[in-house]
Amino acid sequence: MDKLDLGVLFGGASTEHEVSRRSCFSILEKLDNEKYNIRLLGITKKGEWYLYTGDYQNISTDAWEKDVQNKKRAFISPSTEKKGIIILNEDQSYSHLNLDVIFPVFHGRNGEDGTMQGLFELAQIPYVGCDVLSSCCCMDKIFTNIILTQAGIKKAKFAFLDSFDFDNDEKTCLDYIEKEISSYPMFVKPSNSGSSVGVSKVKNIDELKAAIILAKRYDSRILIEENIVGQEVECAVLGNHKTIASIIGEIAPANDFYDYEAKYVSDSGLYIPAHISDETSEKIRKIAQKAYTVMGCKGLARVDFFVEKGSNEVLLNEINTMPGFTSISMYPKLMEQIGIGYSDLLDKLIALAVERFKENER
Ligand SMILES: Nc1ncnc2c1ncn2[C@@H]1O[C@H](COP(=O)(O)OP(=O)(O)O)[C@@H](O)[C@H]1O
Ligand SMILES: [Mg+2]
Repeated sequence: MDKLDLGVLFGGASTEHEVSRRSCFSILEKLDNEKYNIRLLGITKKGEWYLYTGDYQNISTDAWEKDVQNKKRAFISPSTEKKGIIILNEDQSYSHLNLDVIFPVFHGRNGEDGTMQGLFELAQIPYVGCDVLSSCCCMDKIFTNIILTQAGIKKAKFAFLDSFDFDNDEKTCLDYIEKEISSYPMFVKPSNSGSSVGVSKVKNIDELKAAIILAKRYDSRILIEENIVGQEVECAVLGNHKTIASIIGEIAPANDFYDYEAKYVSDSGLYIPAHISDETSEKIRKIAQKAYTVMGCKGLARVDFFVEKGSNEVLLNEINTMPGFTSISMYPKLMEQIGIGYSDLLDKLIALAVERFKENER
């Protein structure tokens, strides 16, 4: 089989820029060079695009950005006439590098939220993961909640507001939230964010106000949820039309909740399988697959849940269309447990991308 020209994209203008670099580093360690000509495109936090030809080890930190010898200004053109990467040379000329398929290793805004996916659609290049619609709907927690509730999938009680309304009439907004959610603690989140950035747990009205002010720094749409006491569990789903759901993993946050520090700095516990009954696991797998289909996900997604203490009720928390992908991340670990090793998983994701593209061409 001919080698595929694979564009691996990382970084991005996102609060999850660093996490993306770490995911990308792990992916590069495991991609089979016999199968792919790997072309690396890095995007800085400011949103500048570069073709990177240096040592991939430099991607795990920001060292790649300082490696000026090995980076060139470049981007993916939305025009279909030259598919792939356009490199801007020093002498004002440009060159072109073909891409057969793209692996966008982005988390959060400007990468996991449908924006990049829109560019790849225009360029007509196959890409790993969810399409424009499912990426943006899953990225937006308010949309996810509304759509899944409509589909009969259980969620924590929620309310939402626009920061414009809050700035205009704080009291009416706070009254509405207290009426809808009815008790503290509550969770306040920017609708479109990730890695727990801008997420707060609040115990009273003053904290609620402060949390809304924090959340609106990240998104003008703000979600407020009742606090669910219980276990946090996750299910990895893979596939386009026919999906596979993994066994269930559990996270035990080192902090009061799974905030940024608990995710990336402290030693939060990760258990595979989760400490739940077989019956609850089966139920979660079914709901995960249903939610994946309802949201129109393709390729992969990690579906996160709470299992409520006492009632054992299963409540969906959120869907991540590009879950953490480091070698110790939950998604690849769950897949490994059902017999799909990391390298094999990468090949499958790339094959699913090509398959979906061919279907849409018909
Ligand atoms: N309704 C809730 N009840 C209890 N804990 C919550 C709730 N919502 C969020 N959390 C906690 O906050 C963390 C981050 O929230 P989440 O919605 O998953 O946002 P992110 O996309 O940033 O991961 C969760 O992993 C969980 O620990
Ligand atoms: Mg989460």
